Order: sequence, then C-alpha cells, then structure tokens
Amino acid sequence: MNKIGIFFGTDTGSTRLVAKKIYGLLGDSLADKPKNINRTRVDELLHYDALILGTPSYGMGELPGLSTGCLEANWEEFAPYLDGFDLSGKRVALFGLGNQERYSDRFASSMIHLYRLFYGYGAEMVGQWITEGYQFKHSHAIIDNQFVGLALDQRTQPHLTDERLQMWLAQITTQLLPAIAQAA
Ligand SMILES: Cc1cc2nc3c(=O)[nH]c(=O)nc-3n(C[C@H](O)[C@H](O)[C@H](O)COP(=O)(O)O)c2cc1C
Repeated sequence: MNKIGIFFGTDTGSTRLVAKKIYGLLGDSLADKPKNINRTRVDELLHYDALILGTPSYGMGELPGLSTGCLEANWEEFAPYLDGFDLSGKRVALFGLGNQERYSDRFASSMIHLYRLFYGYGAEMVGQWITEGYQFKHSHAIIDNQFVGLALDQRTQPHLTDERLQMWLAQITTQLLPAIAQAA
C-alpha cells in the first residue's frame, strides 16, 4: 500500500479532529481518510506499510478502552487482534492527546502503550518529539528525553496544535516515505 494509513481512537472526538487535520495537511495523494480504530479490521490496518496512529489518554494512562471508562471501544479492544502478526518493515508514527494541567503527573501517557504494542510486534517507530513548550510534571510517554510521538493538548494548548502538526508532519513524512517508496 503506497499511502499513509491514519487510525485513531477517541472518546469525545478530539483525537478524531486531529486525525482529520493530519489528513487535510498531508492530502489525498499521501494519505487515506482517517479511520476510527473501533471500526477497523486488523487487515485494514496491516494493509499499510506507513502508519500514523493517534490515541487520547485515559485511566491512569493505560491503553484507552472500556476498562479505562471510555464509552466506546478504543485501542484496548483492538490490541488483541494484532497478536501473532509480524510488523517488521512497517513504520509507525504516533500522536497522543492529553491534558497537561489536569493530568500533569501522567500527561499523554497512553501513547507509551501504543508505542510498546507496535514496537513489540516489530514495527519501526518514528516521529519522536521534543518536550519543550509543555508544562507538566511527568509523562510515561517519554524515552530518552523525548515523547515517543507528538503530544498534543486540545484542552490547554489548542492554539499550538496546527503549528506542531505542520512541524511534525514535515519531519515524519520523510521518515515514513521510504516505506511508501519500497511498497510502490
Ligand atoms: C476520565 C479522564 C481521564 C483522563 N486521563 C488523562 C491522563 O491520564 N493523561 C492525560 O494527559 N489526559 C487525560 N485525560 C484528558 C484526555 O486525554 C483529553 O481530553 C483528550 O483530548 C481526549 O481525547 P478524545 O476527545 O479523542 O477522547 C483524561 C480525560 C478524562 C475525561
């Protein structure tokens, strides 16, 4: 598959909105329309060699889903379907939403579980992001002083989202493109 697949989990719609922004910025020639992970079959996701995956943070920063109080199925319910698949050769970039004021001790922490999930099945993870410009005490989603993906806060820093997305997409498109070129 020679396009980027965009998949997201959401409970109150913010991660969907950001996924749509990403699709709008990349354009139809580079990406397919974003899809809610709770309506995605595993083969639809595995169709892509380049993926952008988004998650909000819920619970104590676990993978969001029914057990973290979400009203709809989310990444938690999708995760078991990946069992047994080898994702080596796939490149995955993550974005994660959170609220750094209210959940300052675990900002955007659910992203780490998506990271571990896809990394664990052999995917190459790209799109790490600097921690400057945020104000929080702790996030589980930091490795080597960087977020494992783009952290966004639609509650307290919505005015920074578009600029962050543009910078991040400029960075990850070139990282995701080799996978696209190989598959073409
Ligand atoms: C019950 C609840 C728990 C939350 N837990 C966290 C959290 O642990 N860390 C965080 O950064 N944000 C947390 N948030 C904030 C959400 O992740 C944030 O509002 C996000 O934008 C929601 O995305 P969605 O609209 O796609 O569901 C929580 C929000 C709620 C309502």
